[in-house]
Amino acid sequence: MKVVIQDDADAVAAYGAEIFREQLQKKPASVFGLATGSTPLRLYQQLIQSNQQGDISFARVRSFNLDEYMDLPPDHPQSYRHFMDREFFDHIDIDRDNTQVPPGNADNPMIACRNYERAIQDAGGIDIQLLGIGRNGHIGFNEPTSCLASRTRVKTLTRETIEDNARFFSDGETQPQLSITMGIGTIMEARLIVLLATGEGKANAVKAMVEGPMSAWCPASALQMHPATVVIVDEAAASGLTDPGFFKHIEQHNQALLARIKA
Ligand code: F6R
Repeated sequence: MKVVIQDDADAVAAYGAEIFREQLQKKPASVFGLATGSTPLRLYQQLIQSNQQGDISFARVRSFNLDEYMDLPPDHPQSYRHFMDREFFDHIDIDRDNTQVPPGNADNPMIACRNYERAIQDAGGIDIQLLGIGRNGHIGFNEPTSCLASRTRVKTLTRETIEDNARFFSDGETQPQLSITMGIGTIMEARLIVLLATGEGKANAVKAMVEGPMSAWCPASALQMHPATVVIVDEAAASGLTDPGFFKHIEQHNQALLARIKA
């Protein structure tokens, strides 16, 4: 697990966006795993800007979102399909038919979950999976006690997650208690994982993820077993780490090494 500490949320987004740009330059027909929530918004804005300037194209990209609320139609303003269209897809040159979000309103969710897994396989697997992290250490909607080998499935949200996301629902609006989410096993198959975390509210979760122990109580700690995960955090989200200076020290060496390779 590579941990990169940046000054603030803008720098976190810039670092993450650069990884996506480089991937697109290397492989224009990349497969991306995408996330919703507040954290990736700045990164999406940076990618939108690069796309509109003509620096990168999503024309051949296929994407799979991590999760979706159960029983919200795709055009519901709080559905993750709607979020992705509004915040990202509407502003880039991606073919909408190549973007998938788990079908939260499928008649048979079990079959829908299996089909989602198959679609990821048929696309050749995910090149880069973008993740945020919940205050309770969830990734996707894999809440604490999730099986660390889980596949795409229906998952009950914890009270904490429901409270955290209540801010997006208006008073009196029914908030879903269930979701369809890629499993931790599904996420772990991505070739590269980029996890972003910003703000002090994420400090405990980041510490538990990075320092362990690996446990179903902090689902993100499973990423310790992933061979290519980059965790990009701001100073506030890094503030719980035992030795943040060590990660900065490593990053300095990495950058120097990269400069030498490029020279
Ligand atoms: C979103 C997702 C969630 C969020 C997490 C953090 O698709 O899967 O795991 O990444 O809840 O959310 P924010 O970024 O709003 O703090």
